[in-house]
Amino acid sequence: MKKGCFITFEGADGCGKTTQSKLVQEYLENFGYEVIWTREPGAKGLGQNIRELLLHYDGEVAPMCEAFLFLADRAQHIEHLIKPAVNAGKIVVCDRHTDSTIAYQGYGRGEDIKQLKYLNSLATGDIKPDLTFVFDVSTEVAQKRVGDEKDRMESAGMEFHKKVRYGYLEIAKQEPDRVKVIDANNGIDKVFEDTKRVLNNFLSSL
Ligand code: TMP
Repeated sequence: MKKGCFITFEGADGCGKTTQSKLVQEYLENFGYEVIWTREPGAKGLGQNIRELLLHYDGEVAPMCEAFLFLADRAQHIEHLIKPAVNAGKIVVCDRHTDSTIAYQGYGRGEDIKQLKYLNSLATGDIKPDLTFVFDVSTEVAQKRVGDEKDRMESAGMEFHKKVRYGYLEIAKQEPDRVKVIDANNGIDKVFEDTKRVLNNFLSSL
């Protein structure tokens, strides 16, 4: 691989994507790939301050303010981490990215999806995920996995999270080549088997 690639991990809170993304990092490194694991919001530096505001600010937050904060974090992340790593031939494994904004602020909060897509494109420029996993799990199971200590986004309620789940499935329908849905109701090992199958197909197509 001359140029690297960019793989994103998406899904509702409690879907298990962080665990799977770390297993994928280890799997790829065992094959000798150079892998950078990162996340949104809050990969490093300024982004960590934005994450703190987004997840723990306890006053009112206007939906478009929320959207712009996620987008601001993304613009910083793309410029300072993702773009340089992909251009240096690395594989970037990213826990959440543009599809989170469409699923959460678009389908979840009800903001205009066309506008959010445009704003996403401003924040990311010419970098787009080559492959995206959506870990799909019933909202009831996901909320149980999250537990009682919920942050601002996790506390948004059952109806909100159902809309987010629906949003992800719509995104996957619209972009079936890039976005692959994995049934995440299963245990970690089975979910990883399914993830590896898709990943291996993707790697053999590079
Ligand atoms: P995390 O807990 O998976 O790191 O994600 C942080 C929370 O932020 C999670 O509830 C999803 C939410 N989120 C959005 O609402 N929009 C976004 O664009 C991103 C990246 C995350």
